Order: sequence, then C-alpha cells, then structure tokens
Amino acid sequence: MANVILIYGSTTGNTEELSGHVAVGLKQVGAEVMVKNVTEASVDELADYDAVVFGCSTWGAGELQDDFIDFYDGMDGVSLEGKKAAVFGPGDSEDYPDTFCEAVDILEEALKKCGAEIVAESLKVDGDVEPAFEESEAWGLKVAEAF
Ligand SMILES: Cc1cc2nc3c(=O)[nH]c(=O)nc-3n(C[C@H](O)[C@H](O)[C@H](O)COP(=O)(O)O)c2cc1C
Repeated sequence: MANVILIYGSTTGNTEELSGHVAVGLKQVGAEVMVKNVTEASVDELADYDAVVFGCSTWGAGELQDDFIDFYDGMDGVSLEGKKAAVFGPGDSEDYPDTFCEAVDILEEALKKCGAEIVAESLKVDGDVEPAFEESEAWGLKVAEAF
C-alpha cells in the first residue's frame, strides 16, 4: 500500500480544510498518509514516500500561495523519478477568470519536470470550498486507487 505525503499551502484555511477531506479519501484504500503544512515540510523528505499530493491555492494573479514559493524553488533539479503524484487547490473563477487555479497547474508542471507521474486530473475547487468536501474525498479515493 502506498506511503503518501500530502503537502498543502493555505493562507485563509481553505486548502487546509480541503486537505483534510482529500486525506479521508486517500485513506479509504488503506494508504498511509502524512499531512503537512508546507511551512513544516522539506523537499528532501519527498524521497521517503511513494506518492506525493500537493494542495495549493492561487494568489496574486496566478501565483503560488506564499508559503509554497520557497518549497517550489527548492524542487528545481530534484528527481522524483518513480514517484506518483496529484495536485488540487481552490480558486475563484469569478474574480480571477484568467488565472483560475493556476497554482495547481504550476505545481503539476513542476512535478512532471522532476520526473513524477501525474496519476489523475487535478482537482480545482471554484469558490466556497464547503460544497466540495464530498468531491474532495471522492477525488482522494480516486487518486489513492491510482497510486
Ligand atoms: C488577493 C487575492 C488574489 C487571488 N488570486 C487568485 C487567482 O489568481 N486565481 C484564482 O483562481 N484564485 C485567486 N484567489 C482566490 C483564492 O485562491 C481563494 O480564495 C482560495 O480559496 C484561498 O485558499 P487558501 O485559504 O487555502 O489560501 C485570490 C484571492 C485573493 C484574496
């Protein structure tokens, strides 16, 4: 069974809340899941896991959530060959139609560049996160099944 690390960056708590629900889904197939705020995570520890899930909101105009920036920079040149991965995040298409959930795309590209295999289409939650809790659990389960 996969040994998974879920790392999230969250300014107002929305991605953090979603992370809890994604983790519930991931655990439904028996995966071991370590959930960490990116402020407490290091790129080096990714080596200890079979699979990686990133959760990140989008800020500025299409930028990574602040806390994720150093982590993202630290991924440059790192090999995640053989690891499986998936990405999710909340955004707001009404106020930011041109940069909706771009942080999710940025992290997906970064993971691919490091050699990780993206196993599922990213989950992009639009607006209020609460109505998406169930969907987040279902997405977590789908991802875990692909790990
Ligand atoms: C100043 C500001 C800029 C934002 N920029 C974007 C953006 O470019 N694209 C997007 O999809 N959402 C954008 N958002 C919406 C946030 O991503 C959304 O509120 C998210 O749920 C916050 O999650 P967090 O609490 O986990 O950080 C922005 C919100 C604010 C307040």
